[in-house]
Amino acid sequence: MKIAIASDHAGYEMKEQLKNYLLEKKFNIIDLGTNSNASVDYPDYAKKLGEKVTKGEADFGIGICGTGIGMSIAVNKVKGVRGALCLYPSMAEYARKHNDANVLVLAGRLMGIDLAIWTVVKFLSTDFEGGRHKRRVDKIDEIK
Ligand code: RB5
Repeated sequence: MKIAIASDHAGYEMKEQLKNYLLEKKFNIIDLGTNSNASVDYPDYAKKLGEKVTKGEADFGIGICGTGIGMSIAVNKVKGVRGALCLYPSMAEYARKHNDANVLVLAGRLMGIDLAIWTVVKFLSTDFEGGRHKRRVDKIDEIK
């Protein structure tokens, strides 16, 4: 499975830790930056991340900023992205089961690394349930 990961400066430390965890677990990782604690703008990274997923170059995306709010607002501007800000594993579970989320957004300043890892693991190991949820997810694309 190919995972694209991106953060701003506030999510940088968490991005590095998650990247190392996922590499150890043998996932293919596309690291889109940022590459230091120097201040950057999260929309630039959200755009790159969303496009990797919608172009089919990654199966899923993981985006991180301080609260996760800016990254989630920005990534959902990319058509075809279903980005979900999840602060704990059960949110990630339902984001996959009910919403077919293709980008997980995390809060680098509000979550510890263990919670972030559990949330990522739940996200990546849960399938979309389809059925009545598919009809609703399809309606998202109809919103202009
Ligand atoms: C950066 O200071 C911070 O505003 C950003 O990481 C994020 O929390 C925005 O939503």
